[in-house]
Amino acid sequence: MTNQTTPSIEIKSELAPPAEGEAVAVCIFTDEPRAGLTQGDELQPIVDKLIRDGEFKGEAETSLLLHAANLNGDSARRLLLIGLGAHADFDAKTFSRAAAMAVRRARASHIKHLHFIMPALDSAAHMTRALVEGALTGLYDNAFYRKREDETPLEQLTIITPERSARLHEEIERGRIVAEAVNWTRALADEPGGTLPPLEFARRAALMAEEFNLQVETIDANEIKELGMGGLWGVGKGSDNPPALIVIRYEPEGMSASDELWAFVGKGITFDTGGISLKHGLDMYEMKTDMAGGAAVLGALRAIAQLKPRRRIVGIVPSAENMPSGRAIKPGDVIKTLAGYTIEVVDTDAEGRLVLADGIAYAKQLGASRIVDLATLTGSIIVALGDHRTGLFSKDDEWTGRVMQSAERAGEPAWRMPVSDDYKKPIESTIADFKNYGGRPDATAAALLLSKFAGETPWVHLDIAGTSWHDQTQAHAPKGSTGAGVRTLVELVCGGS
Ligand code: BES
Ligand code: MN
Ligand code: ZN
Repeated sequence: MTNQTTPSIEIKSELAPPAEGEAVAVCIFTDEPRAGLTQGDELQPIVDKLIRDGEFKGEAETSLLLHAANLNGDSARRLLLIGLGAHADFDAKTFSRAAAMAVRRARASHIKHLHFIMPALDSAAHMTRALVEGALTGLYDNAFYRKREDETPLEQLTIITPERSARLHEEIERGRIVAEAVNWTRALADEPGGTLPPLEFARRAALMAEEFNLQVETIDANEIKELGMGGLWGVGKGSDNPPALIVIRYEPEGMSASDELWAFVGKGITFDTGGISLKHGLDMYEMKTDMAGGAAVLGALRAIAQLKPRRRIVGIVPSAENMPSGRAIKPGDVIKTLAGYTIEVVDTDAEGRLVLADGIAYAKQLGASRIVDLATLTGSIIVALGDHRTGLFSKDDEWTGRVMQSAERAGEPAWRMPVSDDYKKPIESTIADFKNYGGRPDATAAALLLSKFAGETPWVHLDIAGTSWHDQTQAHAPKGSTGAGVRTLVELVCGGS
C-alpha cells in the first residue's frame, strides 16, 4: 500500500528569490511563441539562448534540468525546462502529462520545492486544474515493497500565475480530488494478488467508504450462491479465498429512492490465473491488475463523494480469484446467472464476462436506469487499440455520446467498437443459452454477451485491458497501473468544463 503524501500547493503571482533545494519549471513549445513566460522575466535571456542554441527543442515528453543557472548576478537558480510540443497538438492532457513529468524529474533530483511558471494559455483556470491533476498523479509511486534510503519527497508546489479568477481555487481543488482518487485506484490495482484477495479488496473499499461517507456493503460467498449469482460463484469457487460482491453507494442529501440511479459495474478479479484453462507465459503476473475496473469504480466514487453532484450512484464490484483447483469450475460446465440465463463455460479464462453478467443483472435489480461497466476484459482489445484508447461498446447512441464526450474531456479517449448479433456465432451454445468463448474476435463476442444482460437498459461497456496498465516506465508515470476510467466516470457525473 502506498503511503504517499500530497505536497502542499500554493498560488503566487511572482517568483520568489532562489533558495536551496528549489527549482523553477519553465514550459517550452516547439513553435512560436516558444516560451510563454508569464512571470520570471529574468529567466528570459537564458531560455532564449538555450532555444537559439538548439539545446532544448521543447518536444513533448522531454525535459532538461540545468543545475545552477546564474542569472543577472542573482544567486544560483535551478531551472527545469519542460517540453510542451507544438501549439497545434497542445491540450489539457499534454499539459497534465508535462506537469507529471516535471514533478517526477524534480523529485528524482531531490528538489523539495518546485515553482511552476504557468505559460500563457487560454482557459487558464481549467489548465491549472490539469496542472494540479498531472503533478499529483505524476508523484504516484508503486515501489510499495522497496526499502528506500535516499528519497526526498516533493513538499511544495508553487504555481506562478497572474490568473486570479474565482474559479481558480475550485479547479485546483477538483484537480487534487481527482488525482488522489486516481492514485488510490492505481495503488489498489498495483497491489499483488497475494495481499489483495476479494475480502481484503472489500475491506479497503469499506475503509474508504467510511472516510468519505459512502454507504457500503459486502455480499459474502454464501449470499452470492443463495442469490443465484452462478457466474461470480462459479469463478470464485476454485479458490481458497472466497469471492465477494462489493456494493457502494453515493446518495446525495435530499434525494430519494424514486430519483434516477446510475450504476457503475467494475470487474474485480483480484488474480486471474485463467483457472483450469490455465494461462502460461511470463506475463501472468500482470493479472494482479485484473481488478482495475473494480478499483476504478471505487476510486470514482471516492472523488464523487467529495465533489457532491446531484446524482445517485451505485458502484458494484463482483470480486473473485480465478484459480485452478479440485473445486474449480471446469471447461464445459454450465453456470446459471442471476438473470436466469445459463452460460456454457468453454474456457475458464473468459471469467470476466461471467462475473460481470451477474454484476450487471444486480445493477438492474437495484433499479439502475443507466449502466457503465469497466473491465480488463480481453487481450484482443489490446491487439486492436493498444494502450491509447479504451474500447467502448454499446447499443445506445445517446448514452455512448455522453460517455465518449466525458472520456475525451477527461483525457481518456475511447474508441467505439460494434456490438451486434453479426458477432453472435462465438457465443451460441448447443447446450445452454450462451457460451463464454467461441474463438476470435473475442472483445466483440465478450461485449455481445454482456449486452444480453444489460437488455434494454442504456449500457456502455469499457474494455480497459490496454489502457489500465503501462508495461513500461514513462516520463510521466511508472510501469504499472494508470487508474484508467476514474476521470471518465467523474467527468460523466460531475460534468462541467
Ligand atoms: N483478464 C484477461 C484479459 C486481459 C489480458 C487483461 C491481458 C489484460 C491483459 C481475461 O480474463 C482473459 O483472460 N481473457 C482471455 C479470454 C480468452 C481466453 C477467451 C483473452 O483475452 O485472452
Ligand atoms: Mn481470464
Ligand atoms: Zn481476467
